[in-house]
Amino acid sequence: MMSDFIPVNEPLLNGNELKYVQECIETGWISSEGPFVKRFEKEFASRVGRRHGIAVCNGSVALDAAVVALDIGQGDEVIMPTFTIISCAAALVRAGAIPVVVDCDPKTWNMDVRQIEDKITSRTKAIMVVHIYGLPVDMEPVIFLGEKYGMKIIEDAAEAHGLTYKDRACGSFGDISMFSFYPNKFITTGEGGMIVTDDDHLADRCRSLRNLCFQSKRRFVHEELGWNFRMSNIQAALGVAQLERLDESIAKKKYVGRRYNELLSDISGIQLPLPKMDCAENIYWIYGIVLDNDIPFDAEEAMRRLAKHKIGTRPFFWPMHEQPVFHRLGLFQNESCPVAERLARRGFYIPSGLTLTDTQMEKVAEALKDILKLQCLNLTTE
Ligand SMILES: Cc1ncc(COP(=O)(O)O)c(C=O)c1O
Repeated sequence: MMSDFIPVNEPLLNGNELKYVQECIETGWISSEGPFVKRFEKEFASRVGRRHGIAVCNGSVALDAAVVALDIGQGDEVIMPTFTIISCAAALVRAGAIPVVVDCDPKTWNMDVRQIEDKITSRTKAIMVVHIYGLPVDMEPVIFLGEKYGMKIIEDAAEAHGLTYKDRACGSFGDISMFSFYPNKFITTGEGGMIVTDDDHLADRCRSLRNLCFQSKRRFVHEELGWNFRMSNIQAALGVAQLERLDESIAKKKYVGRRYNELLSDISGIQLPLPKMDCAENIYWIYGIVLDNDIPFDAEEAMRRLAKHKIGTRPFFWPMHEQPVFHRLGLFQNESCPVAERLARRGFYIPSGLTLTDTQMEKVAEALKDILKLQCLNLTTE
């Protein structure tokens, strides 16, 4: 479909996707029993440097399974960033655990790891780290605290395929780590997710939880409640094809990031993504923009104005401690995380999909200049 609207994301499926999906249909292997599932698990886990991969039907349920597999339950506290998707806190709350949030760093937008130690209590069982928007969490202090206080690490690398921290793959740091394969990710299976771990016992637990906790002894007798979180062979076929092209996808996103940096660097009033930290280079999963405080409108208004220029956008995350659903459960009363609160109100992201062209990026940059320039004119005429 050709139109002059620039979507925030479009998946790219021009490798072996069709061939492998056709193979599923021709052989009749369409369920989770098919061979692409095992192949995807093996190849993906090996790419991240982990012993086990457990494919599931999306990233959110990977978090549910991870929490239960680690025996995190009633009354256990888990420290996590407030600036993330609801899936992270929801998995904890559903298991009866208590999410304890920290604010984020205003430059990297990742959790501020310096705030973790103050939040540790005798009930803290784990830290859930979440790599945000293309840069990693500073993992060394997290690993140090995990060891010092005997806490497990759950690593949400949903957005971080191919991202490294100190030359080591994100997704290789958690007792359990997970990824998402939603269409806006570096690798997509339509819907899908992957749990990775080096621990044989945790891998068995996740496999069992994913598959209704069927037992080998007598299939329909259950000792524990699980879920059907299985990934189909058709999804895994897409995943194998997408994994073959991961390096190209990362290179393209980095190019988009660099090009936007050039195009937008002379616009005042906006904060752009940090290109690199000491420990990592940005892989620009998305290209985020944060409006300075002196721009007299918020992200919602900026997105409305860009929509008039036919530019697709998405708002930044809304912090966990400001979620009505958690307030109703009595969580996060009087919690304040000013950095995340500001990012939620002043941050949004612009098109950065794998099909984006140079001309489209130039159009986005022009539109951004226009909506910010108009504002300056309004200010000077007032
Ligand atoms: C950080 C993070 N965690 C978890 C998820 C959940 O993944 P899914 O959409 O596959 O359920 C996402 C989804 O985008 C995410 O960005």
